[in-house]
Amino acid sequence: MPALKILVIPGSLRTGSLNARLAAVAALEIAQAGVEVTRISLSDFPLPIYDGDLQARSGVPKQAINLKRMIGVHHGVLVVTPEYNSSVPALVKNAIDWVSRVQDPHESRGQVFRERAFAIAAASGGRLGGTRALAALRLILTACHATVVPNQFALSFAEEAYDDMERLKHPADVDAMKAMVRQLIEFSQRMM
Ligand SMILES: Cc1cc2nc3c(=O)[nH]c(=O)nc-3n(C[C@H](O)[C@H](O)[C@H](O)COP(=O)(O)O)c2cc1C
Repeated sequence: MPALKILVIPGSLRTGSLNARLAAVAALEIAQAGVEVTRISLSDFPLPIYDGDLQARSGVPKQAINLKRMIGVHHGVLVVTPEYNSSVPALVKNAIDWVSRVQDPHESRGQVFRERAFAIAAASGGRLGGTRALAALRLILTACHATVVPNQFALSFAEEAYDDMERLKHPADVDAMKAMVRQLIEFSQRMM
């Protein structure tokens, strides 16, 4: 059996992003569980806003195909999203929209979602920690027929959540993050 591989996608490009920091912590937790982990930046997959005319004219952009194939070589995916106006940022939704339009030879469209486990997490400076973005993201991924694991993690007051070693300092946050990672690994193994 091939080694289990999990992809971690932060949903923010911002320098010092709270979500990129949380993605790094979760990636470390995944690696410490002995799982091969890849953490990407969506800045390496720059995409125009989805436009059906553009797709009809030029096809799906190469970067969307690359992102879909990057997802496709992993067994599980963790998306760590900011919350913008109670939902997911355009960056995250647009990437999912484009990937959902990719159809590689001998595959059906959207197969890449149907065949893997996804986990979702969010970080925000506020009290809710991006919970509403997680609800929106769960709905979007479920609509793509992805298996989204039940445990999710919303990191509240994220600016104050770390110690000086960049570890989560509150035991409740550590426990919730580990539970989410554990479940992603379990579900990903089942879907291998
Ligand atoms: C357009 C916009 C809308 C936002 N809306 C929310 C929101 O609804 N809830 C929330 O908790 N934070 C909201 N924020 C604050 C973000 O959570 C905060 O900017 C966070 O740092 C973004 O994630 P990042 O640090 O990973 O880039 C919003 C920020 C922006 C720019």
